[in-house]
Amino acid sequence: MAKNTRIIAAQTLVRVLDGGQSLTSALENTLSSLENPQEKAFVQAVCYGVCRTYHRLQFLLSQLLDKPIKDAEIYALALVGLYQLAFMRVKTHAAVSETVDATPKKKSWAKNLINALLRRYLREQEQLETLANSNPVALHSHPKWLVSRIENDWGEKAAQIFHAANEPPPMILRVNVLQTTRENYLKQLTDLEIEAEVVENCPSAIRLVKPVGVTALPNFESGMVSVQDTAAQFATGLLELRAGQRVLDLCAAPAGKTAHILETQNDVECVAVDIDATRMLRVETNLQRLNLSAQLIVGDATQPETWWDGKPFDRILVDAPCSALGVIRRHPDIKILRRADDLTVLPALQAEILKSAWSMLKEDGLLVYATCSILKAENENQIEKFLAENSNAQEIPFAENPAKHGWQILTGENGCDGFYYARLRKVNFPA
Ligand SMILES: C[S@@+](CC[C@H](N)C(=O)[O-])C[C@H]1O[C@@H](n2cnc3c(N)ncnc32)[C@H](O)[C@@H]1O
Repeated sequence: MAKNTRIIAAQTLVRVLDGGQSLTSALENTLSSLENPQEKAFVQAVCYGVCRTYHRLQFLLSQLLDKPIKDAEIYALALVGLYQLAFMRVKTHAAVSETVDATPKKKSWAKNLINALLRRYLREQEQLETLANSNPVALHSHPKWLVSRIENDWGEKAAQIFHAANEPPPMILRVNVLQTTRENYLKQLTDLEIEAEVVENCPSAIRLVKPVGVTALPNFESGMVSVQDTAAQFATGLLELRAGQRVLDLCAAPAGKTAHILETQNDVECVAVDIDATRMLRVETNLQRLNLSAQLIVGDATQPETWWDGKPFDRILVDAPCSALGVIRRHPDIKILRRADDLTVLPALQAEILKSAWSMLKEDGLLVYATCSILKAENENQIEKFLAENSNAQEIPFAENPAKHGWQILTGENGCDGFYYARLRKVNFPA
């Protein structure tokens, strides 16, 4: 490879670790500046890998250093070096020398440091890894507060959740049934030798055996298919859509679920609302690609008086802003960027959005509440509280989870992202 991709990966990681930028957007800038597909793939794999294993690497580094590395770029380069040795199938000699060579010229003081710590890791690898396994943060590669929160909510199931969150996710497609059938699309994939299989219990979902770039997908540009996890594809079926209904998709951007609603039942009046004008631009692009249309409103879900025309809705999807802890496997930077404090702010916002959505629902209408979280505070506790405060809300239970409020899919369950759904019917008699 022509460029030293190690330093490019390290600089990308600095934007996440120090700059607080999301990995998706940091990588977008980096990858657009690289031309060689191999270089792109390597930088992407290293950046995702370092974020996934960050808390373990951080622990290992602390064992290898007498004092912390203050320079952010050199610290990130040390993480990149260690990640290759601990997790990638690379030739160790090349990994060490390439990482040492990646040290920027004006920071030549760091060459010896990087060299020494990587070589020491190789010498003491076994003891260091055993030590890491005895530390819960390093073992699960999740921050301490998150280990506690998830263990507190899920007890014995927590270890499986951490494990699934650290695995690379499958690539799942959603076939646009307005344009073709799932069987037909599967055949198009097979013709191109893209290995794939149907996902049971999810009518429009296909799982790729190996992820590919969207440009490799047949008829992607003409909207025959989209990328969306199986768990997210359950939303539409739960809405029980019928022709002629007025449907509100609250918190809609970037329109994964809006699009699926329209693909499933095109004869509805669909209003999609999101507070974020920039994300709303992506809604437009996404719907255009799929040749679908909805009424798009940039608005605050907690203040419907500023945008709602007063006509109630038959169906409302509240895909609430949440901690996104169920999708860590797709966005491992969440473990680095999310703060414990967010988990006090988010449930309050979700409750406000739910309350305002309820005021826009027709009598006998159905509201589906969704999050991509696995925390009870954002999910079943939220719904429990809502039911206690709203006597005209009746829960439609799930066969999968009859004892609790709603349906909690834990990360990795049946191959899905972590997700939560609850269904609430508005009744005209108190419960
Ligand atoms: C989980 S994402 C929605 C994903 C989307 N439903 C999909 O399937 O593609 C949550 C969205 O809530 C939006 N949001 C956050 N606070 C909001 C508010 N007060 N009013 C409306 N939208 C809000 C965010 O901008 C974000 O786009």
